[in-house]
Amino acid sequence: MANLAEQFRELARDTESRVVAAKSVEERDALKLELLSRKGRLAVLFSNIREVPELERSNIGKIANETKERIERLFGESDRLKTISVEQLKRSFTWQRQERAVLGGAHPLSRFLLLIQDVFQSMGFDVLDSPELEDEEHNFDKLNIPADHPVRDASDTFFVNKNGTQDAILRTQTSPMQIRAMKKRKPPVRIFVPGRVFRHEATDVSHSAVFYQCEGFVIDTHITLTDLMGTLSTLLRKLYGQKTEIRFRPHHYPFVEPGMDIDMKFQPTKDGPVRWLEMLGSGMIHQSVLQNMGVNPQKYSGFAFGMGVDRLAMLYWGIDDIRHFYSGNMPFLEQFR
Ligand code: DAH
Repeated sequence: MANLAEQFRELARDTESRVVAAKSVEERDALKLELLSRKGRLAVLFSNIREVPELERSNIGKIANETKERIERLFGESDRLKTISVEQLKRSFTWQRQERAVLGGAHPLSRFLLLIQDVFQSMGFDVLDSPELEDEEHNFDKLNIPADHPVRDASDTFFVNKNGTQDAILRTQTSPMQIRAMKKRKPPVRIFVPGRVFRHEATDVSHSAVFYQCEGFVIDTHITLTDLMGTLSTLLRKLYGQKTEIRFRPHHYPFVEPGMDIDMKFQPTKDGPVRWLEMLGSGMIHQSVLQNMGVNPQKYSGFAFGMGVDRLAMLYWGIDDIRHFYSGNMPFLEQFR
């Protein structure tokens, strides 16, 4: 019964396009019932597995379980969106009778952030909010970035005149939150910080002066490079597929030692070549950064990582221009409802 596998795959594809196309919460809920209820379409396909010859059964079983997971994930994700949409609805349409309101949706970047955040929360990370207005001490000095480093130049950083001091800047990275978070905490910690960052640079298909990053770090006794590798492989495989090939490559970042870039093998366009793409920066937290956090490097170690949310989201959905995210273009945004 080779085509049972194909039926499972077809069901997953069909569900995906119907979930995306669902125009209302009711339509989506009906779809969920049709697929996942006790006598739903998925259950019916599962019951056919019994008739498959024993030799093929474990193979089909695997495909069946993957399909089930994929479909549950689709509904799981859109369940969260539903909550967001309803909250947004309340805020923006209180003047309007609710049944007439248009059902909006979360912005693709918010949606994608939730996906990433879910992965880290499932691994026990706390999610923290963080300030966008920073000072040089936290954005640079305490992260071991020397006074003459080129990123500190006014041509890369936005300086803000705050109460007559020249010290305020718009943060160029989410990393300063490593220092801030540890002012109130003691290890062991697992922290995740999504947020907006700013760089004084020209805009093009892959650069925007305002974009999003996520920062994460873990500090405990006995944290090693393998913890870093395991955690970040888990992230990439959950997002881009269990079979994703991952590579760790040495790279210098002042606040980590050793520092690494993490690449993954990926086919950015459907018929295009498979390439190694740089996905994250990471490393073991530098001893002097630990000291700046008030953490004793003799007793504790940690790893840290940072990633560009826009770029990861572009690869996830096959979006070719970062400016779409900030354009407010409805035909673009409606694809993500
Ligand atoms: N802050 C870096 C950037 O903006 C990204 C980064 C690299 C963060 C390595 C980290 C890290 O925490 O360990 O390019």
